[in-house]
Amino acid sequence: MKPASDTIVEALNGLAPRIALVLGSGLGGLVDAVEDPVRIPYGELDGFPPSGVSGHAGEVVAGRIGGKPVLLLSGRVHYYEKGNAAAMRPVLEVLKGIGIETLILTNAAGSLREDLEPGSVMLIEDHINFSGTNPLIGEERDARFVGMTSAYNAALRTAIEVAAAKEEIGIDKGVYMWFSGPSFETPAEIRMARTMGADAVGMSTVPEVIIGRFLGLRCAACSVITNYGAGMTGGELSHTETKDMAPVGGKKLQAILTRAIGDMA
Ligand code: HPA
Repeated sequence: MKPASDTIVEALNGLAPRIALVLGSGLGGLVDAVEDPVRIPYGELDGFPPSGVSGHAGEVVAGRIGGKPVLLLSGRVHYYEKGNAAAMRPVLEVLKGIGIETLILTNAAGSLREDLEPGSVMLIEDHINFSGTNPLIGEERDARFVGMTSAYNAALRTAIEVAAAKEEIGIDKGVYMWFSGPSFETPAEIRMARTMGADAVGMSTVPEVIIGRFLGLRCAACSVITNYGAGMTGGELSHTETKDMAPVGGKKLQAILTRAIGDMA
């Protein structure tokens, strides 16, 4: 099999995206916003791990959004699938290799705040890595000591906020806490997360931001809130609920990101 970067560059046929997006659970709708899409299943890309999670398609979709060349990763691999926090590293290295400079991540998340309702969008300002692991464990070069003080790029965050205002869509801001999953949190863990200063909880994104910063990519991330955290309402949580609710906020996020990307220099 030839290197994934060659396969992608050939398929792009001259298109040179500098922006890549990672689409979270049930957020595949953003693919519909891509003009003249080129689709490459992960199976045709050397080193791209197949995602075993329903709601994740597992393909690269490239084209234009708002006139700008973009590359979407529809489907990601999670730490909880095989216990490998660095599962997305080969993918992100390939993106870096083909000239991607900006990485925008999306995810579905549980809310820890009553005023952050399911169906809303939260711009991630910072994160708490509560997984106990790190995707750079085993990396031997000094580059592993990645500064995370401004992991979520300020200019990108502003661009996303401005885009939301132009689209007249409310966007919240907050701290995302990474739990390993795949089981959902307990009510006690949710109370702890709130006390520790988190606004939302989820099972992805943080390792990708760490790898992204390691690779020198500008990172931004948004959560689509699919539910309140465990114990905040009466009911039990489920992945079905995540998949059913994600498109609600997903539509808002699609409009915001389409505008933000179109306006990017
Ligand atoms: N917890 C963790 N991950 C999630 C949740 C949640 O409540 N909702 C969607 N992804």
